[in-house]
Amino acid sequence: MLLEERIALITGSGRGIGRAIARLFAGEGAAVFLTARTEAELAATAREIAADGGEAAYTPADLTKEADCTRIVAACREKFEQIDILVNNAGHYGPVAAVEDYPIADFDAVVSVHLRTAFILSKLVLPEMYVRQSRVIVNISSISAKAAFAWGSAYAAAKAGLLGLTRVTAAEAARKGVRVNALCPGPVTETMMSKDLGVELAKRLGVSPQEQLEGFLKTLLQGRGQTAEEIARAALFLCSDQASAITGQSINVDGGAVFF
Ligand SMILES: NC(=O)c1ccc[n+]([C@@H]2O[C@H](COP(=O)([O-])OP(=O)(O)OC[C@H]3O[C@@H](n4cnc5c(N)ncnc54)[C@H](OP(=O)(O)O)[C@@H]3O)[C@@H](O)[C@H]2O)c1
Repeated sequence: MLLEERIALITGSGRGIGRAIARLFAGEGAAVFLTARTEAELAATAREIAADGGEAAYTPADLTKEADCTRIVAACREKFEQIDILVNNAGHYGPVAAVEDYPIADFDAVVSVHLRTAFILSKLVLPEMYVRQSRVIVNISSISAKAAFAWGSAYAAAKAGLLGLTRVTAAEAARKGVRVNALCPGPVTETMMSKDLGVELAKRLGVSPQEQLEGFLKTLLQGRGQTAEEIARAALFLCSDQASAITGQSINVDGGAVFF
């Protein structure tokens, strides 16, 4: 098992990619601490992990609130005593709107949940990670950080900002035994965020959601979307000792969409 005796705090872990990461990490021996706003989804993920023989605990939180970030870090430490792995995954896409129409409050909310939350949680866990060394942060960014898709300015800005945060944190942490990396998934078509986005983009383009999706998938080398499990496997690699020389990087898990 790749994560034996590790404690992993995974945000946005009630469903989608975060849930897949939590289940895979637990299967690899980690005790996982789950958080998101929807308690029923957290409870369901925790039950699935327990049914598979893994260890999970959860606390609901709105991670756009600094006090909630502090609370879940404290709750994770109270339950499992330490935090070895932080996966900053929670987020939502926000409106599908041109820059000139994009509501400022939505811009702030989207940047907050992806970027500000990752910053706050990193700030909270790093001092402990520095003391024990050999710890890991993974930030879930997106190919939106590297490509040019219309109508998602806040999302793209937040995800690109996350890559900057990843590099700077990696630079500060590298000689203190902590690795920090980012993943850039392509379209993970099974998740709620992805499906909701598809519906909005289709409306905007005047096509059906299926036509929108098929058109987009054709632009990828592999011609298909990614699964949450495929993203989780990349996160597992980055969080395991197998990636011991990798830090400050962003790895695209996108079936061949962007190439830097
Ligand atoms: N799906 C894709 O195609 C794709 C591609 C690239 C990157 N990503 C990234 O992957 C991550 C996961 O997305 P997903 O596709 O798995 O979407 P998802 O199924 O909608 O999951 C998003 C998770 O984030 C949580 N979340 C959202 N806002 C939150 C808040 N304010 N406080 C706490 N938790 C919050 C949600 O729970 P609650 O709503 O219950 O709070 C949920 O657990 C996101 O960062 C997304 O940008 C996704």
